[in-house]
Amino acid sequence: MAQTLTVAVLFSGNGTNLENLITRFHGRRFGDKSIRIVPVTNRPDAYGIKRARAYGLQTVVLDHKKFESRESFDAAMVSKLKELSADLVVMAGFMRIVTEVFTSQVEAINLHPSLLPLFKGAHAIEESFKSGMKVGGVTVHRVDSTLDGGEILDQMCVKIDPSDTLESFEAKIREAEHEILPRTVAKLLDLPAEGID
Ligand code: GAR
Repeated sequence: MAQTLTVAVLFSGNGTNLENLITRFHGRRFGDKSIRIVPVTNRPDAYGIKRARAYGLQTVVLDHKKFESRESFDAAMVSKLKELSADLVVMAGFMRIVTEVFTSQVEAINLHPSLLPLFKGAHAIEESFKSGMKVGGVTVHRVDSTLDGGEILDQMCVKIDPSDTLESFEAKIREAEHEILPRTVAKLLDLPAEGID
């Protein structure tokens, strides 16, 4: 009997990384394990909800505006993730800072579009592009209650060519993200890396 592992993917917007994780993992079997992706968002209007629906997946919506404080939102998120029995929690474009209410109870990883510790925060791609550096990159790190500050698990460099525009650089960042995140997820779930393409 295959063991089913549940991966909760938290997102707030477009959801390309969510979709990439769905296509690479959801309903697929890796040796004696099979994977279930559960999309979770804090925004009822997030485009990723539509992406998930195209694969027959219902998104769990916890609208942060309906909560009085960060802590009460985080507490609701924690109980939802426990209810789902998530084996892994992945933040992929989840644009919320979480408090200790979350980090003391949930182990999660986060995808960030820069070479941390450089360019933390919500404008990493643009700041990185305008920095004058010849490379930017992407990072997957553990989540703690500091902004983009947890232990770094993996990174990839992305070249900034003189011919790049912000848009072309962003496309390269997205491409790197779509490689690094599944790779880290496979590693953390102990799946064979060659199986995830
Ligand atoms: C990604 O670039 C991700 O690294 C970034 O949001 C984007 C979401 O794209 N996350 C952060 O900036 C977190 N600080 P997507 O919705 O298409 O997956």
